[in-house]
Amino acid sequence: MSLVHAKSSGKGFVQCRNIGVVFGSDDTRVEAVKDVSLHVNPSEFVSLIGPSGCGKSSMLSILAGFTQPTSGDATVDGAKIRKPGSDRGVVFQQYSLFPWLTVRKNVEFGLRMAGVPRSKRETDARTLLGLAGLLAFENHYPDQLSGGMRQRIGIVRALATSPQVLLMDEPFGALDTQTRAVMQEILTNMWQKFRISVLFITHDIEESVFLSDRIYVMTARPGRIKAEIEVPLPRPRTAQMTTTKEFSDLVQRLKALIREESLAAMGSELSDGGITGFGIDVGPHGIGNVL
Ligand SMILES: Nc1ncnc2c1ncn2[C@@H]1O[C@H](COP(=O)(O)OP(=O)(O)OP(=O)(O)O)[C@@H](O)[C@H]1O
Ligand SMILES: [Mg+2]
Repeated sequence: MSLVHAKSSGKGFVQCRNIGVVFGSDDTRVEAVKDVSLHVNPSEFVSLIGPSGCGKSSMLSILAGFTQPTSGDATVDGAKIRKPGSDRGVVFQQYSLFPWLTVRKNVEFGLRMAGVPRSKRETDARTLLGLAGLLAFENHYPDQLSGGMRQRIGIVRALATSPQVLLMDEPFGALDTQTRAVMQEILTNMWQKFRISVLFITHDIEESVFLSDRIYVMTARPGRIKAEIEVPLPRPRTAQMTTTKEFSDLVQRLKALIREESLAAMGSELSDGGITGFGIDVGPHGIGNVL
């Protein structure tokens, strides 16, 4: 089964119902997420944004099958998520490549675990690397490559087992602005080819608008869904679109929502306006820009 077959599979419907996450107990009790319901339709690109500590990674970890929610349930195509599975690929901010394996062996890793025969593994890995423009580097080791290339390989590796769902937690958070912009274009192109469902977590609001069909905004902790916003921009998306009024209006609207929550997270004395006395800009382009 190659990735190309994942195209338009109609699978990959992700659903979270009334998810609650509580860490610790008694004195150490932290309610991270409260009553979160969300979904990702097959082939849809959905972002999850919200202030730091609102429970975004906790949600992704539940969908990846790394942790169980305290309440509620999460399903893919109706099946309850209980553990990690090859139907879901995961990409984190930190490159999680194996430094002792070549680029191609890294990509082949999941296929090897799945028992795919050697020649098929090689062909599939090479096809994917070719699509990502990385075939020339198949025999390099990760530390011989730039951060952007390593993260591209991380994405390719997550795609190698033909998952129906790609879960990404701030995958470009460690990259410089230019590399990040290129990665966004590469990701949107790859997603358009493979049309798998994506849940994407980011602190970068422009990034979420550029990539997504829909965006969920979470409140400050305990994280709940504050808003669900459709992104009506046409596809394919191009870098020029980020200069349109439609794009910037949506970005401003999202920033205002996030700003409210960032202020709430910082405490009510800040939202009373006291913060301006310390010379910190909380205007429309202020704290809301930095989650
Ligand atoms: N294993 C844990 N034990 C206790 N508390 C935890 C644990 N993991 C997360 N938390 C807490 O739960 C809350 C939500 O954390 P989470 O990492 O999901 O937030 P986030 O929205 O991803 O934050 P960020 O934007 O900074 O990545 C935070 O207050 C965090 O400190
Ligand atoms: Mg996080």
